[in-house]
Amino acid sequence: MYNVKIFGAGSIGNHLANASRRLGWNVTLCDNDPAALRRTKEEIYPTRYGQWDDAIQLFTVADVPRGGFDLIFIGTPPDSHMDLAIQAIEEQPKAVLVEKPLCTPGLEKADILYQLAKETGVKVFVGYDHAVSHSAAKAVELMPALGAVETLDVEFREYWGGIFTAHPWLDGPQDTYLGFWQRGGGASGEHSHAINLWQHFARNLGAGRVTEVMATLEYVKTEKLDYDSLCLLNLRTEKGLVGRVVQDVVTQPTRKWGRVQGKDGFIDITIGSEDLIRWKCGGNPEESQLFKKTRPDDFITELKHIETVINDPQQSSMISLECGLDTMLVVAAAHISNREGRRVRIDYSKGYSADALTIEP
Ligand SMILES: NC(=O)c1ccc[n+]([C@@H]2O[C@H](COP(=O)([O-])OP(=O)(O)OC[C@H]3O[C@@H](n4cnc5c(N)ncnc54)[C@H](O)[C@@H]3O)[C@@H](O)[C@H]2O)c1
Repeated sequence: MYNVKIFGAGSIGNHLANASRRLGWNVTLCDNDPAALRRTKEEIYPTRYGQWDDAIQLFTVADVPRGGFDLIFIGTPPDSHMDLAIQAIEEQPKAVLVEKPLCTPGLEKADILYQLAKETGVKVFVGYDHAVSHSAAKAVELMPALGAVETLDVEFREYWGGIFTAHPWLDGPQDTYLGFWQRGGGASGEHSHAINLWQHFARNLGAGRVTEVMATLEYVKTEKLDYDSLCLLNLRTEKGLVGRVVQDVVTQPTRKWGRVQGKDGFIDITIGSEDLIRWKCGGNPEESQLFKKTRPDDFITELKHIETVINDPQQSSMISLECGLDTMLVVAAAHISNREGRRVRIDYSKGYSADALTIEP
């Protein structure tokens, strides 16, 4: 049984608290806003999961215990992730899970976190739960039957009204980091699951990491807001795979979808309240498989994966810190590419900072 501390008693903090309790773990949940703690106990948790769980201990950040936790989860806005993750590693837990997007597009302190994790050996994960889903695992399992890969597409297109329905205490994106791309909001940050899943599939196709980003973003800029509503990316990997990612916060109804196109077939993934994989490979008839799940299942699967990796040092993780950092390099490159109207190259030998990004002449 693990002792878990969670920073942020908002939407994701409640999901992670509930998933941890379902796994029988002890949960300490803290927030720097006492109103968020009250809302968790009286509204969010009982509304989502039927009733409040008295075993969950609530604290303000000022009063929360330090030390003695096996796992520390950071479920706060992206612009607070780096400082909290660095402090979490200093508590020497077995692992730290930082929510997506890992940091801001400015990549501030990303390299410091990376070096600290390496030096201390504390495992750091990034909350790209779609990469650990059973449907993504099925897609990866089918990849060898596709023949040579031709192209890869992933789209996470979703109007973000649903987020504000789930956060009735917010009037809109201007009240939170979501309305500000430099704080990790906008389509590029909020739906970075799509970039991450593209990278996960590309790695498993043997195509390597993304080395070129050509982006078109559409920004909404007013006195109160500054975010990208559309983020369209053309990508190339170190092994020459060319494909596309689309992320937006405007599409209704939602479309979260991906396709791997090979010479000998295709794999389609559709992500929703249930995930669907369709495939046709090697001259066989088309097949499909539905992955039934509940929202809590998404996070239980993620936490079980983390437990497995902690217990088996040989096991690699598709939600490792390195994978989350690779995603942030693409997000950062996207904003620069759009601003300059040029392709941006990523050089991984330069570390996880702006130095890794070069604008093509
Ligand atoms: N993986 C997923 O599917 C998923 C789903 C939802 C949110 N998220 C991510 O989780 C993060 C939080 O999103 P959310 O929707 O839960 O936001 P939220 O606004 O609902 O909750 C964030 C909470 O963090 C608190 N907070 C802010 N700074 C803090 C600090 N320094 N210490 C402690 N608490 C602090 C706020 O008071 C707030 O209660 C974001 O990065 C978001 O992208 C991921």
